[in-house]
Amino acid sequence: MSTYNIPKLEKKLKKELDTERFRHSVAVMYTGTALAMRWGCDLERTQVAGLLHDCAKCIPNDKKLRLCEQNGIEVTQTERDNPFLLHSKLGAWMAKEKYGIEDEEILGAITWHTTGRPGMTLMEKIIFLSDYIEPMRQKAQNLETIRYQAFIDLDRAVMMTLRDTLQYLRSGSRELDENTELSYYYYRDLCDRKSPGKKAVGAEMAAAGTRTEGTAAAGTGTEGIPEKSPDTEP
Ligand SMILES: [Fe+2]
Ligand SMILES: [Fe+2]
Repeated sequence: MSTYNIPKLEKKLKKELDTERFRHSVAVMYTGTALAMRWGCDLERTQVAGLLHDCAKCIPNDKKLRLCEQNGIEVTQTERDNPFLLHSKLGAWMAKEKYGIEDEEILGAITWHTTGRPGMTLMEKIIFLSDYIEPMRQKAQNLETIRYQAFIDLDRAVMMTLRDTLQYLRSGSRELDENTELSYYYYRDLCDRKSPGKKAVGAEMAAAGTRTEGTAAAGTGTEGIPEKSPDTEP
């Protein structure tokens, strides 16, 4: 039996997002569902997380900050300087308060979809990855490989996404959210432990901020890179 009325959630969400963001949200929902089938995650709850992950995305930045402050949501200095980052944690708050979602794992998947975190749950990893690989994403250079890995080795696909996100952020001297960095080291070490002979491709180079095969060169090719932090899309 269904717990959630997904068509009703979709209808409500559609009023809060612009057309592109809504289409992206639906794409993340279906990509997440495919990964949930592959990895044995609850399909319906993953759909809800995917659909709502960007529910706070189209709120103006000053209002994001104000809403966080009014509702006791902690704002770090990095987030204050880059308020678009707040759409993740504010989104989790909105999912609870405006969409009636109480499920802590769904709320966690929304909270961590931009930066990831060390030790993500299965659903958190699936939404984090789906946000990066959904079919309308086209410009990150390792997408094909990461899409493949997402169905072969989920942790490795997460590590590769974090590696490329860090590479992108460092290439333009953009501000890093420390969770992205902490997550990368966590998943790099996890992958190394799982397959000691198969070192993360370019891991050390990425950590050092130098160019790796297949990633954006410094100062070029950054338009349209998937949203991770900082979020560059409209
Ligand atoms: Fe997002
Ligand atoms: Fe997104």
